[in-house]
Amino acid sequence: TDYTVEVDAAGTGPAIADTMYGVFFEDINRAADGGLYAELVQNRSFEYDPADNAGYTGMTAWAPTAPDGVRGTVGVVDDTGRLNERNRRYLRLDLPSGGQGYGVVNAGYNSGIRLDRQRYYDFSLWARTGAAAGTPLTVRLTDPAGANLAPPLRIVVRGDTWTRYTGTFRATATSSTGRLAVTGTGGGTVRLDMVSLFPRDTFKNRPNGMRRDLAEKVAALRPGFLRFPGGCLVNTGSHYGYTAPNYERRRSYQWKDTVGPVEERATNANFWGYNQSYGIGYYEYFQFAEDIGAMPLPVVPALVTGCGQNRATDDPELLRRHVQDTLDLIEFANGPATSEWGGLRARMGHPAPFGLTHLGVGNEENLPDEFFTRFQQFRAAIEAAYPEIMVISNSGPDDAGGTFDRLWQLNRDAGVEMVDEHYYNSPEWFLQHNDRYDSYDRAGPKVFLGEYASQDNRFYNALTEAAYMTGLERNADVVRLASYAPLLANEDYVQWRPDLIWFNNSTSWPSASYQVQKLFMTNVGDEVVPSRASGTPGTTLPITGAVGLSTWATSAAYDDVTVTAADGATLLRDDFSGGAGQWTHATGRGSWSVVDGAYVQSDAVAEDTMVTAGDPGWRDYDLRVTATKRSG
Ligand code: AHR
Repeated sequence: TDYTVEVDAAGTGPAIADTMYGVFFEDINRAADGGLYAELVQNRSFEYDPADNAGYTGMTAWAPTAPDGVRGTVGVVDDTGRLNERNRRYLRLDLPSGGQGYGVVNAGYNSGIRLDRQRYYDFSLWARTGAAAGTPLTVRLTDPAGANLAPPLRIVVRGDTWTRYTGTFRATATSSTGRLAVTGTGGGTVRLDMVSLFPRDTFKNRPNGMRRDLAEKVAALRPGFLRFPGGCLVNTGSHYGYTAPNYERRRSYQWKDTVGPVEERATNANFWGYNQSYGIGYYEYFQFAEDIGAMPLPVVPALVTGCGQNRATDDPELLRRHVQDTLDLIEFANGPATSEWGGLRARMGHPAPFGLTHLGVGNEENLPDEFFTRFQQFRAAIEAAYPEIMVISNSGPDDAGGTFDRLWQLNRDAGVEMVDEHYYNSPEWFLQHNDRYDSYDRAGPKVFLGEYASQDNRFYNALTEAAYMTGLERNADVVRLASYAPLLANEDYVQWRPDLIWFNNSTSWPSASYQVQKLFMTNVGDEVVPSRASGTPGTTLPITGAVGLSTWATSAAYDDVTVTAADGATLLRDDFSGGAGQWTHATGRGSWSVVDGAYVQSDAVAEDTMVTAGDPGWRDYDLRVTATKRSG
């Protein structure tokens, strides 16, 4: 079939804002610790806990070491002798009196600590000692067999008061399997915490900074905005609010936990099954946004736990406190250095405001009415105190009915300015829904497409995303902001794929989708030139089928699923060998493989919301599958 495209060169279309295409950073796939955050020591403050991940202990990533075989004892302690109330645990080393030393060695992330020959590495730790004469420590960068990769550092810990000690290494060799060893001699007990190693060479050379290659890849996109810190990450345990004490796991993401000196930032369980240090916190996010020329766009929890967890808090005092926290966040970003929270920003190194203009409340809400009443309280308080800030609502998971429609109705009726939409679909879906926003109400809320991706990392996916983005851009009067998701994935710790940029401890590589995003982000037009196509290739007969699928347990066990079309063809099959990340909690979207090459899948959606809170055990879900028989 021939198609024609008519271009109205003299016509005028909607203006396209410079901020239209941005990035969404979520601490998923170890995007922060072991990723963008340049810290090389894993579990630096010994806070890993089975509540973060069943496989963790306080010694995760650490092992005892006794270079000459003379042993002492080592243990992680949680008592009143701690570094501070937010940094609860520390390492206790009881040293033998003779020998060359006894201590611990850290294995870093992936295959180890990446070191580059001739580069500088800044070491620090907090320590105190019970030995009257002090405790000599030797700090080494070694290979896995213990051979030095830099001249060792010698530190003498003196006194029984927590003190920070520092030193600098210069690597004599390049290695991706480096280890950091800290050993002490002289007997007695020495206590260690916040054992840290940073490359001096961070993005923009910032202390406590970002890994250069990853940050540069993000910066090269020239993103219009930076959405952070999540995602489901934000709403985790949101129903707990502050009712869980600061040091208890699975409290929600509270921005105040993430600012101030790093050794006073309480670590927390991450929604995605690991420990998060908050070494990248709100200050670092704002600074990064400024460094890459992107508009900062934080998202705060709404006291309703979305992402399939389906819980809301009915505690007015808690809600009041969360709302106040959000006002304080705006003051932290924009307030004068003389204000309480603007003062903290200034003390952290940034007296000038960060220029916050947009803020999201909540993420993928599954309880539309519960969310919206709370959203309205946030919105009213923010608009009263800061009328210049745009408060962004959301539309829940894109379930094409139920929650999504209800939330859109609530948002429309209340005159909300902007709504966050999320969806992950097959590449065919992206081709077939290029017109999604053509029919959106021009008088209704604007769209922030906060998350989207076609479900794989192949060239074809990138191509379909590019095609789809022409539809976003054509509707730039409605779609004001758009970001692919997720942004980063450490290849050894993957909870979700596809992703935009992949990495390990040594290198990083962009996906084909990255190149598409870069193409659009670095070539943002001023306005749309109207055009019309006579048709869309490739659409034929849709086939819709439904199967009962027994699946879902929080232990991440799944049944196989096979979908058969009315004519007997096997359309889709998934044995879930891709792991839990392939089947997502909220919308039931899966990474489905089309078995019969005569068909292309356009959609696969679970009709019920999946439950992740607690363990509901095996449940049945109806899976609605839409596929299309290829033409010809
Ligand atoms: O981008 C990954 C996840 O997808 C986000 O955390 C969540 O908002 C969505 O379900």
